[in-house]
Amino acid sequence: MCGIIGYTGPREVVPILLAGLRRLEYRGYDSAGVALVDRAHTGVQVARREGKIAALERALEQHPLTGSCGVGHTRWATHGPPTESNAHPHRVGHVALVHNGIIENHAELRRALAARGSAFTSETDTEVIAHLIEAEMDDRGCDLLHAVHAIQSRLKGSWALAVVHDKHPDTVVAARHSSPLLLGLGGPGVGEGESPGAENYVASDISAILSYTRAVVDLEDGDVACVRPDSIVILDQDGAPVKRARRRVEWSPMAAEKQGFKHFMLKEIHEQPRAIRDTMLGATIDDESGDVELDGLRLELGADNPRLVMVACGTSWHAALTGKYLIERLARIPVEVDLASEFRYRDPILGPSDVVVAISQSGETADTLAAIHEAKRRRAHTVAICNVQGSTITRVADQVIYTRAGPEISVASTKAFTTQLTMVTLLAIHLGRRTGRLSEERARALLGALRTLPAHVEQLLAQLSAIRIIARRYVDARDCLYLGRGLCFPAALEGALKLKEISYIHAEGYASGEMKHGPIALVDATVPVIVLALRGPGYEKVVSNLEEVRARGGKIIALATMGDTQIGDIADDVILVPDVPEELQPIAVSVPLQLLAYHFADLKGTDVDQPRNLAKSVTVE
Ligand code: AGP
Repeated sequence: MCGIIGYTGPREVVPILLAGLRRLEYRGYDSAGVALVDRAHTGVQVARREGKIAALERALEQHPLTGSCGVGHTRWATHGPPTESNAHPHRVGHVALVHNGIIENHAELRRALAARGSAFTSETDTEVIAHLIEAEMDDRGCDLLHAVHAIQSRLKGSWALAVVHDKHPDTVVAARHSSPLLLGLGGPGVGEGESPGAENYVASDISAILSYTRAVVDLEDGDVACVRPDSIVILDQDGAPVKRARRRVEWSPMAAEKQGFKHFMLKEIHEQPRAIRDTMLGATIDDESGDVELDGLRLELGADNPRLVMVACGTSWHAALTGKYLIERLARIPVEVDLASEFRYRDPILGPSDVVVAISQSGETADTLAAIHEAKRRRAHTVAICNVQGSTITRVADQVIYTRAGPEISVASTKAFTTQLTMVTLLAIHLGRRTGRLSEERARALLGALRTLPAHVEQLLAQLSAIRIIARRYVDARDCLYLGRGLCFPAALEGALKLKEISYIHAEGYASGEMKHGPIALVDATVPVIVLALRGPGYEKVVSNLEEVRARGGKIIALATMGDTQIGDIADDVILVPDVPEELQPIAVSVPLQLLAYHFADLKGTDVDQPRNLAKSVTVE
């Protein structure tokens, strides 16, 4: 959703802010702006534009601004439409600030501030914060750091703030509460590459500053930081100075570049062999016994009737659904799966013997975070499966298992999904060996197949052009159905989600057995049906479903196992998938489904990496 970058140091700040905003574009936004303190110390200057960053860049070309300290923002509108006046930074008196999050009591604060004479120029919840800071400095004569600290007690909701002030020309004050914010440490010997002198950064997302530094400090909720080129002072919630640990980000700056691919999504699809291999490095495998230990996981499974509850949103929820199939099958432990947005409000039956596993690529999804808090409130044990180190969810959950997909920039999740699937497969094997329900022999066979999976994914990627030809045949479709059975059912849901989010073609996924209970009414020659028909126990039944579609004139794209010669008689188009054990089929079918969605979208000319209305991580409800 919204993105923040801040900088203070010897470099010219505008190019740093604009480059940082470009790297935050993937999060989704509809206006952008910068505020900087100019070198002549004539005060804070603000430039904002509705729409894309290019509009802001054009404005800055026409009216250049210079300075060495400033903040930038991409806004995804919540309160008030995406107009220039609602764009951040918001300037009030000497203060200019950018904000991610939502101030829930903004209406009440606005009334109180208006009563004492404050005039508002936007419809945003954010503007009240700038008024509060300005008033606090005026009334109490305190400095910017202490003013920002003081006003936080009046806010309800979530915020990450970066604030500059006319009279503090080299200072960015940063604050966080339930919205991610980190400090980037720069300067000679600390930052990446050559550095002209002492400098520091503020960012809501590491990708904004990855090319300048990999040394970061994560702020805790309630922290306020005074960031200057050569010093950082952090106050905790109680106003006491505090030191926060510094960590080094493992992601390479190149990982956040397109590297010659037309879109980040295509690049990330192609990174999957590497991402799956890296994710497997988080597992210690005993080749003799087939036992698996996962880095970060030390589960006490209650003696009687252990139960797992998996919570997630969107694509991660599809990974959780797959996890249910795998864990129940291999470990015979019952698993419930909930959408995090439902779980948090449905008064779940949960207690200290339950383990709640939250899956999230970003580690910042508001509903998933709230679900973990709810689980902790009910004294359940919480485990996160997450891709982003240092993210909020990893700091709240009791234990964390990392997927190692690397930065995922495209809004449409691809490598994050297949690495989540890899991790839930490893988790199922780990649990299966612990409960004794999975034999050594079967565990060894599955682990062996997992090791060869990256090579199979390479084979699937080689079908890129063939899948484009298929996509071209159906690109004018308005609706598509995705059918899958058993372990391929969640993959069908994910295939449909992928298609609709980037191509805007209406698509729905169904369990194949459900087709006769309703969706078959939609089938005609204009609605392509994408069927996951891999060899396995449900194969014959899926073929019967295909016959039913065909009998109604439906067009069929079948994903079938290599060597299947029967399917071509029924399907209009066939995509062949390597023969892998049934437990790994969800990963194998996901790759061609991603390519299919990608080509549909690219052929239609949509904004593949930043589809309309969507944000990469949904940090508000
Ligand atoms: C998938 O393509 C979407 N971007 C979306 O459904 C996403 O998976 C969901 O918002 C959850 O995000 P998370 O994994 O970062 O928690």
